[in-house]
Amino acid sequence: MSSENLIKRVTIPDIIDKKVKSEKIAALTAYDYLMAQILDEAGMDIILVGDSLGMVFAGYSTTIPITMDEMVYHAKIVNRVVKRSLVISDMPFMSYQVSVEEALRNAGRFLKEAEVQGVKLEGGENISEIVRKLVSFGIPVMGHIGLVPQSINRFGGYKLQGKDPKIAKQLKKDAKILEEAGAFSVVLEKIPATLAAEITTSISIPTIGIGAGPHCDGQILVSQDLLGMFEKFKPRFVRRYAELGKHMRSSFKSYIEDVKTGNFPGPDESFE
Ligand code: KIV
Repeated sequence: MSSENLIKRVTIPDIIDKKVKSEKIAALTAYDYLMAQILDEAGMDIILVGDSLGMVFAGYSTTIPITMDEMVYHAKIVNRVVKRSLVISDMPFMSYQVSVEEALRNAGRFLKEAEVQGVKLEGGENISEIVRKLVSFGIPVMGHIGLVPQSINRFGGYKLQGKDPKIAKQLKKDAKILEEAGAFSVVLEKIPATLAAEITTSISIPTIGIGAGPHCDGQILVSQDLLGMFEKFKPRFVRRYAELGKHMRSSFKSYIEDVKTGNFPGPDESFE
C-alpha cells in the first residue's frame, strides 16, 4: 500500500495544536464497532470509550460498577475499527485510585491490549502524582474535573459544580495542576460557563466541555444522548440531533406487524 492511501490518525499534538489555532475540538463517545466506525467516518476528532457505557450500554444506574476487563474489551472493539480519530479510554472507578503502581499497570493495559492512544482519569490535585507518573512513561492522560460521575455518591446527584466560590477556586487549581502534571487536555463537566471560560484561558491545554458552556476549546457528549437513544433522562446540556429511540421502536413495531400479517418476507426478500 502506498503511503498516500494511509489515513493520517489524529494525534495528541494535533489536539493541543487545535487550541493554539483556536480550532474547536469535536468529541463523542463510542462503545461498539458500528458507532465507532460511523463517528470516525464522520470526522470526529476524539472518540472516547467512556465509562458512561456502564449506564448507556450495560444498564447500571451509575458508572461505578464497570470493571477494567469490560472497559478494555470495549476499547479494543472501538480502536480496531477507527482509522482517523484519536481514541481515548476512560479508566474505570478504582482502577487508578489505590496506588500509582496499580494505575500504571491498568493504564498500560489500555495501550498494550486495546492500543488506544490515551486514557482519561477523573480528578485534579488528588490524582496529580498518578498523572505525572503515567505521562512520564508515555501514557497520554486526559483529565476530568467538575461533576465527576465516579464521585456521584459524594455529590448526591448530577448537580452543577463550581457555583460555590471555594469549589470554583479548587477547580481552577485542579486544571492548572493537571496541566503541570502533563495532561494533554481536560474535560470540564457541568460547571458554570463563566468558570469554564476562566479555566480555558488560564491553561495551555485544551478544555473539552460537557455542560460547561460555549467557551471551552472543544465539546463532548454521550452519542446515545445526542441520538435520542438514551431516554431515561435528558440533561439540559444535551442537544438531541435525532430521535433514534422513537424511530427504532416504531421500526420494530412495523416489523412485528409485517411478520404477524405475513407481509414479511415478500418476493424480493425470498429465494426461488
Ligand atoms: O464516560 C463518559 O462518557 C464521559 C464523557 C461524557 C465526558 O466521561
